[in-house]
Amino acid sequence: MDQSISWITVGSVEDIPRQGSRVVRTAYGDIALFRTVADEVYALEDRCPHAGGPLSQGIVHGARVTCPLHSWVIDLASGEAVGPDEGCAGHCPVRVVDGAVQLGLAAFRPGCGGCGHG
Ligand code: FES
Repeated sequence: MDQSISWITVGSVEDIPRQGSRVVRTAYGDIALFRTVADEVYALEDRCPHAGGPLSQGIVHGARVTCPLHSWVIDLASGEAVGPDEGCAGHCPVRVVDGAVQLGLAAFRPGCGGCGHG
């Protein structure tokens, strides 16, 4: 992980339901924090690369989320759609330190609508 990233605490990992999400408002728009059953935490823009659906309302399974609108599956680590769909959601470095969820917002990477790169 890039040591030059400045980290901003946005809450506690306990605030995020397991296999669920919580949305935080940032200068980059709404960021959905996802927590897996294994307590891994990921941060994606709350906007599906397909048609802007709210990924925070999707179903988390493994390290992926299924969009509630048309069921695209998005990889939580990269923000990329799982094939055959192509596209990527904006994503942000995230870490958990002593139970606090921290975002590296300055390293936020915007998504793309169907271009296929992460
Ligand atoms: S908006 Fe997410 S699959 Fe269509």
